[in-house]
Amino acid sequence: MSTNIFAHRGASKYAPENTMAAFNLAYQQGAGGIETDVHLTKDHIPVLMHDENVKRTTNSTGYINDYTFDQLKQLDAGSWFSPEFAGARIVSLEELIKWIHDKPLYLNIELKNNKIDYNHLEHIVYDRLSYYHLLHRTILSTFNPTSVKRLKHLNRNVGVALLTSRRHKNIVPAAKDLGANAIHIQYRHLNQLLVDKCHQENMTVRAYTVNKPRQLLHCFSIECDGIFTDTPKTAVKYRDHFNHQSMK
Ligand code: G3P
Ligand code: MG
Repeated sequence: MSTNIFAHRGASKYAPENTMAAFNLAYQQGAGGIETDVHLTKDHIPVLMHDENVKRTTNSTGYINDYTFDQLKQLDAGSWFSPEFAGARIVSLEELIKWIHDKPLYLNIELKNNKIDYNHLEHIVYDRLSYYHLLHRTILSTFNPTSVKRLKHLNRNVGVALLTSRRHKNIVPAAKDLGANAIHIQYRHLNQLLVDKCHQENMTVRAYTVNKPRQLLHCFSIECDGIFTDTPKTAVKYRDHFNHQSMK
């Protein structure tokens, strides 16, 4: 097997996270998939941003769900990162879907509904993916266990991952009980035993956020199915070298 490399918020080490610049760069760097985070605006448009509040990654303040989509589009989502990216705009889920449509990339949409449980977020996201025929190469993920259930209720064939940042002895049966197909776990809780348990249960396991060569090689050697990285170029280089060596 070969570990799939997802660009975490795009190639977020080199371009402002969750912007088209970061997604384009991830594609150029050879990532196999894009990971992004989704929230809802006041007028119920799914938009891509990590935090609930725009303060850290734009030139404004306040919660995403207090802005309309048109208002959010006025903000500068690039200058905080570097002047080179001044004027970068917040991206809607629809824009990302249209961009990814003709590219051979997987998509991991993380529903950011663990702090604000946005009404109908699951349905709205599912509907867009279904409309553009992207469900077969999309993994939906969330830290919110109830949301995993809701997603599975919409369509039991859609790929859903339970996200966890904690050590949890029974994470595999717990995720399975919710109906999840995968576990997305913080790198420091990843180990061979967990990978084996997941595979025995026919579940996929992916780790975040893996940037350092030593950590990348560990993931490849224990056959972790996927990793999320801010530096796809480095990850691809190490993964291809690792695969080449193990074929010898
Ligand atoms: O989806 C993997 C990872 O992105 C989860 O954590 O906080 O970076 O969204 P966070
Ligand atoms: Mg995320």
